[in-house]
Amino acid sequence: MGGPAEVRYIIASRPGLAGDVTPTAAAGHARHRLTELHARMILVTGGAGFIGSNFVLDWLAGTDEPVVNLDKLTYAGNVRNLDGLAGDARHRFVRGDIADQPLLESLLADHAVRAIVHFAAESHVDRSIHGPGDFVDTNIVGTFRLLEAARAYWSALPQASRDAFRFLHVSTDEVFGTLAAGDPPFSETNQYLPNSPYAASKAASDHLVRGYHHTYGLPVLTTNCSNNYGPWQFPEKLIPLIIANALAGKPLPIYGDGQQIRDWLYVGDHCSAIRHVLESGRAGEVYCVGGSSEKANIDVVQTLCGILDAERPRADGTPYASLITYVKDRPGHDRRYAIDARKITAELGWQPAETFETGMRRTVRWYLDHQDWVADVTSGGYRDWIAKHYGG
Ligand code: NAD
Ligand code: TYD
Repeated sequence: MGGPAEVRYIIASRPGLAGDVTPTAAAGHARHRLTELHARMILVTGGAGFIGSNFVLDWLAGTDEPVVNLDKLTYAGNVRNLDGLAGDARHRFVRGDIADQPLLESLLADHAVRAIVHFAAESHVDRSIHGPGDFVDTNIVGTFRLLEAARAYWSALPQASRDAFRFLHVSTDEVFGTLAAGDPPFSETNQYLPNSPYAASKAASDHLVRGYHHTYGLPVLTTNCSNNYGPWQFPEKLIPLIIANALAGKPLPIYGDGQQIRDWLYVGDHCSAIRHVLESGRAGEVYCVGGSSEKANIDVVQTLCGILDAERPRADGTPYASLITYVKDRPGHDRRYAIDARKITAELGWQPAETFETGMRRTVRWYLDHQDWVADVTSGGYRDWIAKHYGG
């Protein structure tokens, strides 16, 4: 048997997702040394999830710099999000776990990676309440393994490449806990007070990332972003769930009194913030990212219902809002999140392009145009597809 990478390292050979199958040197093949072909390449983790796939698509629409995309394809990962890259040799998809350090080391060695953009995570608060173990495994242990692999790779780079290397950790505003009505929004200097297993696991990963900078000098960047919405969001999160349920004539569940506040940001604006931070952010710094768009949950749902009433009126003429149903509150439910994004705006010139209104309308239209995608992910059809193409 060869090294561990031999059995776990698969680059998809289906058309459009990569092209190369690179089973490692153990099989006697000369490795495909991208170092010689490309001076620059980024490694994206979790690039088949909601934000990661939007990021990869936006990245390759704006630059020719190739991407190696590492994703475990959990229930939340869907390679079909990346169908638009069919035949694009700049995109290499690898199915694998960020906790698999030998795989990470071999990926980094085989590709001239100049930056890691780390999205991979368990990301749903409700799931973390029912089963926190996966959140510890991926968000904490997985990030630790990724940091270890990055440190080993980075330490061995020539000085100029070491200086240019970046590890960008994508995190959340939930690490800061909850705000009361009159509190100022979260900023980079807020105390960490995570309240859910998800938030606690992300907080732990943020601390590891910080520690690797201070102790080893690894050039890290951290972003703490508010709630995202937009295309390809798995319909367990509020906005896609409400759209999917409304179109199916199902109840629209509002937790508690529906007055919890989130600061909503269109996913494309989050992706542009990450690009700004990657290119111009100062190593070791943290950047808060948000939409300056605080809305109570009930208002978000009412807005969605209004857009749907206009775009796709119900056959019986009743408004979608008649489906709103108040349900039991989430345990430990944070009351309010809000972000002060002045640092990234002042230092890096980032600003969101979408308002809440334009972003919501775009999002509803996207879901109306992609009901096959929603049906596929909710029926488990895409899991069958993964089993067929990846063997389980
Ligand atoms: P998501 O759940 O849609 O996607 C996560 C992706 O990571 C999936 O493709 C999944 O297959 C992959 N993954 C999970 N475990 C893995 C592992 N062990 N190894 C490799 N891949 C693995 O999540 P998202 O909403 O796209 O969030 C991406 C990142 O952004 C997360 O780190 C999250 O904490 C952060 N974030 C999300 C939001 C939001 O509103 N969604 C806001 C701020 C920050
Ligand atoms: P969610 O999309 O799960 O994101 P997060 O918990 O990370 O903020 O939820 C957004 C808000 O919507 C949150 O306050 C919980 C609430 N919510 C509901 O009221 N009903 C639902 O069915 C869901 C999924 C969420």
